[in-house]
Amino acid sequence: MAQLVRFGISLEKELLWKFDVLLKEKKYNNRSEAIRDLIREDLVKKQWQEGKEIAGTITMIYNHHQRELVNKLMDIQHDFGNIIISTQHVHLDHHNCLEIIAVKGRPQQAQELTDSLKAVKWVKHATLSMSSTGKNI
Ligand code: NI
Repeated sequence: MAQLVRFGISLEKELLWKFDVLLKEKKYNNRSEAIRDLIREDLVKKQWQEGKEIAGTITMIYNHHQRELVNKLMDIQHDFGNIIISTQHVHLDHHNCLEIIAVKGRPQQAQELTDSLKAVKWVKHATLSMSSTGKNI
């Protein structure tokens, strides 16, 4: 287990009050866990900015009835086979599909894959959730 270190933080009373309100809303039990998460959030951002190995998910919604759409989406995913580690397809209703694509690799490629999928006609929504491999955070 990692060694824990205690340290003091000085900040304005009002800012601390706002922070505590925020913690309550976000269901944190203590300030330490909230501060840890804030730090990790920034470290993850840095990994993405610096082009380090990252992990994340792409979520997209499309109407599968559109001709050629599914083939086009498959072609794109095969082009990025080196970073896709898993996909899940959910039939939301008679027309709409939800697809979750888990990726691990370079951030530029994850962004490029997201952009390529998003740009396909009839993809209603696509979003990239930027996360981490869990290393070095
Ligand atoms: Ni479907």
